[in-house]
Amino acid sequence: MPAQGQDLPKDSPRAGARALGGEASSVIPGAAPAEADQAWIAVIRKMDETYAELVSQQVELEAKNDALEEAQGFIAGLVGAMTDLLIACDLSGRVEQVNRAAERAFGVTADDLVGRPLADLIDRSSRATAQDVLATMASRRRIVDSEFTFATPEGPEQVAVNGALRFDTRGRAVGIVLVGRPLGELRRAYSDLAAAHEHLKHTQQQLVHAEKMASLGRLVAGVAHELNNPISFVYGNAHALKRHADRLVAYLDQVHAGADQAALAAARAALRIDRTRADLAPTLAGMLEGAERVRDIVADLRRFSSDQREAPSPFDLAAVVRTAVDWVAKSQMPDLAIAIDLPEPFESVGHPGHIHQVMMNLVQNAVDAMEGRPGARLEITGTSAQGRARVTVRDTGPGIADAVLGRVFDPFFTTKPVGKGTGLGLSICYRIVAEHQGALDAANHPEGGAVMTLTLPAPPAEAKE
Ligand SMILES: Nc1ncnc2c1ncn2[C@@H]1O[C@H](COP(=O)(O)OP(=O)(O)O)[C@@H](O)[C@H]1O
Ligand SMILES: [Mg+2]
Repeated sequence: MPAQGQDLPKDSPRAGARALGGEASSVIPGAAPAEADQAWIAVIRKMDETYAELVSQQVELEAKNDALEEAQGFIAGLVGAMTDLLIACDLSGRVEQVNRAAERAFGVTADDLVGRPLADLIDRSSRATAQDVLATMASRRRIVDSEFTFATPEGPEQVAVNGALRFDTRGRAVGIVLVGRPLGELRRAYSDLAAAHEHLKHTQQQLVHAEKMASLGRLVAGVAHELNNPISFVYGNAHALKRHADRLVAYLDQVHAGADQAALAAARAALRIDRTRADLAPTLAGMLEGAERVRDIVADLRRFSSDQREAPSPFDLAAVVRTAVDWVAKSQMPDLAIAIDLPEPFESVGHPGHIHQVMMNLVQNAVDAMEGRPGARLEITGTSAQGRARVTVRDTGPGIADAVLGRVFDPFFTTKPVGKGTGLGLSICYRIVAEHQGALDAANHPEGGAVMTLTLPAPPAEAKE
């Protein structure tokens, strides 16, 4: 048989066809043997072509199938990994598919859920209902963060639900997809967060309070130290005056008793009446001076505790600087060398009490930095130009490390031990100065030590008059 001369695989369809058809030449009746063979060859070729086509189609189909399976696996993986509940329903609200999170939430398998009406899954106490879902979908709207109560084995569970219609490839709505996020967890996370926040706020308030108390303590210590001098002055003079008064009274008693000239002269010498009389005026002047100093300190204290509701006004910046240095440095570091160089007059505009607080903080930091270091010296220089008054405070401490220079104004930044620093001083200063439309800068002096520069508005020329 000529056809057998062709090299064909054993399981080729042709082999099968031949087997089925029996003798090939007998299939085409009436044909001459050679013609019949030709016809067979043509048929067999056609079959081979068709077969090859089929094989290639099958390969293609298998590849597509693989891709499809992969895509399905991917989607199933995604849906399975979702922590949110996924419920797919048909348009009548009958469950078609759910993910693992939904299985877990409802405590049953997907097979138990499929086919059940959506209404079965929603608790009777739920504000939003299955009916609402169908109505929203019928009007072609989406469900956005709607609060549902699902009926779970653990009891009613609040769930925030988003939902939309599902479309087929031709764009026809074929179902509803609902995604729900249990609110219990979110609520718990939220309340934990709120509690942590409250705690933090409370701690901050405590620290701010601690800083306030510390400043107040320093202020009181400084003022007490300042008052101590004039008060002891008054006290010493009062004692002297008492001695003078005793002598004068003793002498007057003799005068009134009608003592003779000789007795009076002896008493005058014994009681040192002449010196006592000469001392009276300076003793009284001393007392008065001391009392005036006390009055001035109290006046300063009152001025610097003026409250913010007062309108900003021009004030004597020089007095603010001097009292701040007096109250902080003198009491804490008696042998500190202090050099103050300020122009005259030296004024600014704002709230003197607040600027006094800033100055006290700057001096306090300088004193802290120089504590225990030999040759401590505080240098304060003032300049006034172009509507700005500038004060620089330089100390002979170790200076501020470059790495932290940018952080010294941050609230709670401190390099001091617990109980000594709160890290709030400079951040409060910064805020006060900013409220005054001023600036506060921290730097280091090339010869060592920190330099803090405070820039404030100076009053306009006419206001000075
Ligand atoms: N004059 C200074 N010399 C060196 N370091 C300073 C000086 N002033 C401030 N600092 C640094 O800035 C930090 C923050 O200061 P501050 O806000 O006043 O808080 P506190 O004084 O409570 O630490 C200080 O801990 C210190 O490290
Ligand atoms: Mg400080």
